[in-house]
Amino acid sequence: MTAIHGYTYDQSLPASPVTLGELDLLKETLLWTDDDAAALRQAGAVLEDQIDQVLDVWYGYVGANAHLVKSFNGPDGAPSGSYLDAVRARFGQWIRDLCGRDWDAKWLAYQNVIAERHINTMGQTDNVGSAETHIPLRYLIAFIFPITATVRDFLGAKGHSAEEVAAMHTAWFKAITLTVVLWSQPYNPDQW
Ligand code: HEM
Repeated sequence: MTAIHGYTYDQSLPASPVTLGELDLLKETLLWTDDDAAALRQAGAVLEDQIDQVLDVWYGYVGANAHLVKSFNGPDGAPSGSYLDAVRARFGQWIRDLCGRDWDAKWLAYQNVIAERHINTMGQTDNVGSAETHIPLRYLIAFIFPITATVRDFLGAKGHSAEEVAAMHTAWFKAITLTVVLWSQPYNPDQW
C-alpha cells in the first residue's frame, strides 16, 4: 500500500485526553453491544471494495454545498483540489480503521489527532495556507445524519439479509455518533 500523506495512526502519538474509562461509559451510553462490534466488522468487509463510491457520494454532497466546501478552500479562496484529494485518501483509511481496528488507547490517540485537524490544526498537515481555521461544531454534529444515511445502500449491496443490513447500519450509526462525540472534545475540553 502506498503511504497516505499525514496518516500517523501507527506512529507514536500523544495520549488522547479521553480515557479508556470515559470511552467505556460512552459505549454504554450508546447501548453498544458485542453484536454491534461484530456487525461493524462485517460492515467494514462489505464497504471495503466500495470505499471509492462511498467517497464519491460524500464528496458530491460536500461539493454541492458552498457552506461546507469552503472548509476545503486554498489560499485563493476557492476549493483546493490537492487538499480535497489529500483528505480523501485519509478519509478512505478512516472507514477501514473505524470498522476494523480495536477501539483502544492507540485508536483514541488518533481520534484526537483527527479531532484537532477539524479545529486547531486544520490545514497544517497538507500545508493548505487557507483563511479557514476550523470546522464549525454545528456542521460536525449535523454530519452524523448524511454520513449514516448514505451508507445504507452500500451495506445492502452485497446480498446480506435485511436483518444483517439493519444490524450493520445500526452499528455504523452508533460508531459515527461516538466518533463525533470524541471529535467534539477539543471544542470544549473543560465541559466535554
Ligand atoms: C461526521 C462528521 C465527520 C466525519 C466522520 C469526518 C471525517 C473526516 C476524516 C476521516 C478526515 C481525515 C482524517 C485524517 O486526517 O486522518 C477529515 C478531515 C477533514 N474534514 Fe471531516 N469529517 C466530518 C465532518 C466534517 C465537516 C462538517 C466538514 C466541513 C465541511 C469537514 C471538513 C474536513 C476537512 C477540511 C478536513 C481536513 C482537515 C485537515 O486539514 O487535516 N469534516 N474528516
